[in-house]
Amino acid sequence: MTEANEIRAGEDFFRRTHNQLSGEMSHYVVANPLPDGRSSYQYLADQVPNAQEVLDLGCGDGSLLVVLARNGATRLAGIDLSDVELSAATQRPELYGADLRQGRAQELPFADKSFDTVISHMALMLMAEIEQVFAEAARVLKPAGRLAISVGLKPAGGSGRALFEKVARPIFVTAQQSGAMPSLGDRRTRTREGLNELATVAGFQPIDWTEISHGPRATPEQAWQSAVDSYYDATLIEAGQLQRLRDEFLDQASDLAEEGLLAHGARMAIATTQLR
Ligand SMILES: C[S@@+](CC[C@H](N)C(=O)[O-])C[C@H]1O[C@@H](n2cnc3c(N)ncnc32)[C@H](O)[C@@H]1O
Repeated sequence: MTEANEIRAGEDFFRRTHNQLSGEMSHYVVANPLPDGRSSYQYLADQVPNAQEVLDLGCGDGSLLVVLARNGATRLAGIDLSDVELSAATQRPELYGADLRQGRAQELPFADKSFDTVISHMALMLMAEIEQVFAEAARVLKPAGRLAISVGLKPAGGSGRALFEKVARPIFVTAQQSGAMPSLGDRRTRTREGLNELATVAGFQPIDWTEISHGPRATPEQAWQSAVDSYYDATLIEAGQLQRLRDEFLDQASDLAEEGLLAHGARMAIATTQLR
């Protein structure tokens, strides 16, 4: 497959998947607060106090923009590939005046120097042509404008998430090799060094980086369900295979669990910076 076709396949996958599963991401985030009780939307929004003119890249159903509106932002804009997620966003009273566009973060339909803040929650690490996304973020920001993003990291060892990755890996690899699962995103966004290089090349200052583990300890059944709900690859597994995978997961989870509970293992990083 050519690079252009691969990118198109990845973006078609997001459109299809988010059009079917609209709202699931925000439901998951609200149900799994951070250790200090805030949602990761609230935590990220709190990294940019006094943000007034904000653009959210991969805004999904608008949950982060709602938090920013409540924090006092006056101009709200978002872009996402999924029209179904966006139509959920338009129905939120806090977002009635928001400028929500269907499109690609690599080609922002916004004027130069038009926002004081660009923000993105768990979406940047899924985007191809990531240099272009950073260049576009820098273009639409006003001088000294801020960038704040969260990205997913590999799960903590010995956790429900790590076990899920281990038992599901052969199926995920097969799906990738057969082309059913497109390759998504750019690995550099999942490390401090990689993200720092992308940001500084685009004209930002070196990033501040904070890693957070989140998600409560859970029974093996809950850990299984939570993992299935949060891996894009899991949407492609057919029912019988999923059932067999579940049995294997629960079997191995019994060795890992302490007092019947498993560590959740989800991890994310928050990176913030501003234009030089
Ligand atoms: C994991 S979801 C996160 C949604 C939202 N930020 C949230 O946290 O609730 C990733 C989102 O990024 C969007 N997305 C992926 N690639 C994109 C791109 N190149 N441009 C715009 N949106 C994109 C997807 O359609 C999806 O809604």
